[in-house]
Amino acid sequence: MQQPKHQTLSIGAVFTPPKWATFAIEKFGLLEKWLAGKTILDPTMGEGNLLISLVEAGLETGRKLADLPTQNLYGIELNTHYFEAFCSKIEKYNFKQTNFLNEDFFFTKTTVEVDIIFGNPPWQTFANLPADYKEIAKPLFFEYDLVGKAQDLLLGGSRMDIASLVIQKSIAKHLKTNGEAIFFMPLSLLLNDGANETFRNYKVGKTHFALEKIYDFGTAKIFENVATRYGLVYFRRDAFTQYPVPYLRLEQASWQTLFARPLLRENAPLSVTTGENINLLETLALFTILPTQIPRQGVNTGGANDIFFFQSCESFDKENYILNEKIILPKKFIYPLITSKNFQKQAKPTKWVLLPYKKKGKPLDWAEIEKYPHLQNYLWQHKITLENRKGTMLNAVMKKGYWWAMLGVGKYNFAPYKVVWESYGRNTFEPQIFKSRWQANQSLQCFVPCETKELAEKILAYLQNPVIETYLLSLKMEGTMNWAQAGKIKSLFKIEETQK
Ligand SMILES: C[S@@+](CC[C@H](N)C(=O)[O-])C[C@H]1O[C@@H](n2cnc3c(N)ncnc32)[C@H](O)[C@@H]1O
Repeated sequence: MQQPKHQTLSIGAVFTPPKWATFAIEKFGLLEKWLAGKTILDPTMGEGNLLISLVEAGLETGRKLADLPTQNLYGIELNTHYFEAFCSKIEKYNFKQTNFLNEDFFFTKTTVEVDIIFGNPPWQTFANLPADYKEIAKPLFFEYDLVGKAQDLLLGGSRMDIASLVIQKSIAKHLKTNGEAIFFMPLSLLLNDGANETFRNYKVGKTHFALEKIYDFGTAKIFENVATRYGLVYFRRDAFTQYPVPYLRLEQASWQTLFARPLLRENAPLSVTTGENINLLETLALFTILPTQIPRQGVNTGGANDIFFFQSCESFDKENYILNEKIILPKKFIYPLITSKNFQKQAKPTKWVLLPYKKKGKPLDWAEIEKYPHLQNYLWQHKITLENRKGTMLNAVMKKGYWWAMLGVGKYNFAPYKVVWESYGRNTFEPQIFKSRWQANQSLQCFVPCETKELAEKILAYLQNPVIETYLLSLKMEGTMNWAQAGKIKSLFKIEETQK
């Protein structure tokens, strides 16, 4: 394939501070391995901090430059500016110029195979790549076994990280049999639901590789201006992962020894725990639910909370409420919206939501809306703002003419009972039963819709098993938006067509 010309692009360019390059060199004995004759490649080397740190570590042992096997170091960098900075830095070292290429790693002509890959790949989601680069990158996700079909890349997969692609290609194409790969990388590849799940098959076609050790830098700031959680991860080619994997986490300047393994399914996000409770879900018999009862996120206005959500609500007349002290709308379509206060013995609503929907979960038709002049006027008044909302799924409904539609509204919103929990930013898992009209709010709360009180109570009792909170804590997402989202809780249920 023709080498694309993208040498001015800067994709995920955050360089490893020499201190942390040295940390990796020491933890994985890279200096000794290199001095013993092993070859090393940094596939996306930036200004070469990792390789230069290795040479510096060699010099610190008292060896002379001429005695260091610099001819065994290789590097590739896409961006010409960084590549030139690297070239000027290495003038004083005895590097073999022809081992270093200013090329796109994905399209490089070199077929070099080394004993050790030592890298810090660019961290950028597919969705955030420059548009024309996205086009050329798309087939790579198929080539390197990260997506099954184009659809996956468009939906959740667009959050897939290009770092996974660099890792897959490095291991599959540039590592010798049983070779080692050490990467600074975003931990979302190992710990998050969804997008990066395919990476956790740890294989590229027929080539398997094992996840062998993880250093999680916790809250320590190692890379400037990076909000992502990251770590240092060790893989070995042509081996299968043996769980649990040692997981070391930096907490208040000391390394805590933990263990990681996926629970519930092979490529689930890793659960990280102390040794004793690594098999913590073994005692949990999964509760069976129907497809109509799968956990859901709350109502999503597509960015129009100001239009659909209200802070006060009084009865205006028999048919209508007065909301925010000025907006009159039919009682029939106004629902109490759950807030965190409602989980703390606050029985009364403090927020309300307008759902212009039928009980079957479809948006009202305009002919029906016209039967309620207050509703009609209100929606009409906000027509332009509502029509300008963005998002693929919302656009699909709006294209059918329902510009008053919302996301996350279906028959399930009107189930007689909901088992609801706070899914965002928490570190405890405390589900509670709410009656039919109460609505969960976007990703803040999730729920299981239930037809009967009896079922709701059974599901509540099941979810209150303390092992579930321990399991959520093991996923290390406390305090984040990913604490107990619907997909994660769904994996704690068995979904069958008939209920036992
Ligand atoms: C996170 S930085 C790390 C650089 C270096 N390994 C270090 O640790 O300091 C990632 C580097 O990858 C480069 N890069 C991004 N896409 C690339 C590609 N397709 N081929 C080669 N290099 C690429 C970026 O320009 C950037 O310099």
